[in-house]
Amino acid sequence: MSITPLMPVYPRCGVRPVRGEHCHLISEDGRRFLDFASGIAVNLLGHSHPGLIGAIQKQAETLMHVSNLYGSPQGEAIAQRIIDLTFADTVFFTNSGAEAVECAIKTARAYHQHVGNDHKYELITFNNAFHGRTMATISASNQEKMHKGFLPLLPGFKYLDFNDLEAAKAAIGPNTAGFLVEPIQGEGGVRIASDEFLQGLRQLCDEHDLMLVLDEVQSGVGRAGTLYAYEQFGVVPDIMSTAKGIGGGFPVGACLATEKAARGMLIGAHGSTYGGNPFAMAAIGAVLDVVSDEAFLADVRAKGERLRARLEQFIGNYPELFESVHGRGLFIGIKLKSEPRAFVAHMRDNHQVLTVSAGDNVVRVLPPLVIDDSHIDEFMDRLSAAAASYQPEGVA
Ligand SMILES: Cc1ncc(COP(=O)(O)O)c(C=O)c1O
Repeated sequence: MSITPLMPVYPRCGVRPVRGEHCHLISEDGRRFLDFASGIAVNLLGHSHPGLIGAIQKQAETLMHVSNLYGSPQGEAIAQRIIDLTFADTVFFTNSGAEAVECAIKTARAYHQHVGNDHKYELITFNNAFHGRTMATISASNQEKMHKGFLPLLPGFKYLDFNDLEAAKAAIGPNTAGFLVEPIQGEGGVRIASDEFLQGLRQLCDEHDLMLVLDEVQSGVGRAGTLYAYEQFGVVPDIMSTAKGIGGGFPVGACLATEKAARGMLIGAHGSTYGGNPFAMAAIGAVLDVVSDEAFLADVRAKGERLRARLEQFIGNYPELFESVHGRGLFIGIKLKSEPRAFVAHMRDNHQVLTVSAGDNVVRVLPPLVIDDSHIDEFMDRLSAAAASYQPEGVA
């Protein structure tokens, strides 16, 4: 048998982490990496955060899991905290980002079917979006590399150019249920929606009774410098997915909705065995204890600005390698002049700093939100050494 024990769907690199210490990962062979990837925007409290560990340990000793057949004091308390902090009136807890987006898609369709508009099932989504790897969420993305081998896709999605409000206006038809959009595209290359675009989509939704569904799985929970990125665009969604950072490493997500948008999500409409179990609620509680504090978020914005300013100054030293720096908060993209994977691998393998490649030739810089200036210094030192020693393929 030649197949690997782990289904071979990931091109796993040679780094094999076995321990985490704050903003560093230690690999099986003892190497120490500066983790500016955070498990792809997940470990926002870094590794081994005492508050998160304590909450999970305490919950493990008390009650790990009960079915959603029973009342959930833990779920009610965390849902209420999220409601108090956001636009939402109600929350469905999931175990991942893709499930949160699935729930968001179902909520949007169910709204229209509940009010008797069964023909309104189509969500307009945007090129280079990433919404997850389930059948519905790959169908919601135009990226053919994710479709290969899994056709036919789920019907009911239309793809348009990101930030093209005129195209969005023109695309609304009798079947349109709403828009599904990342305010900041993560996998697509840290591409930021314009205020006009998101505000225009909001207006179209209001005019045509459509659902504005935001996917904040990557941009949410303080990553972009506000608890949710939508706060920076002057819009409020009807439905929103969140995951990744909200558990700080514990696998949990949520679909948030207004009372109006959730009209169709009645008893029996949806479910999940694990969704919202006490373990997951303890993790969210510990993360919100830190991240929902306005002073903490202001510090994320300030650190993001310092890091971006240093990066902007630095890239001028290597005009043949780097093109630009962009982002919000600690959700930062460094755009390269060419495909970024080789440079990400060089930084990782030769300079022990972890980042993540994305579309549009971008290296994503996603540090834990708890970094301090020493980590920014360490990152700049390692990046600088990596750029100085980089030999792109094909160059002597
Ligand atoms: C914007 C967005 N939506 C959804 C997902 C899917 O989340 P998960 O991998 O937890 O299913 C991701 C993951 O990268 C994402 O970035």
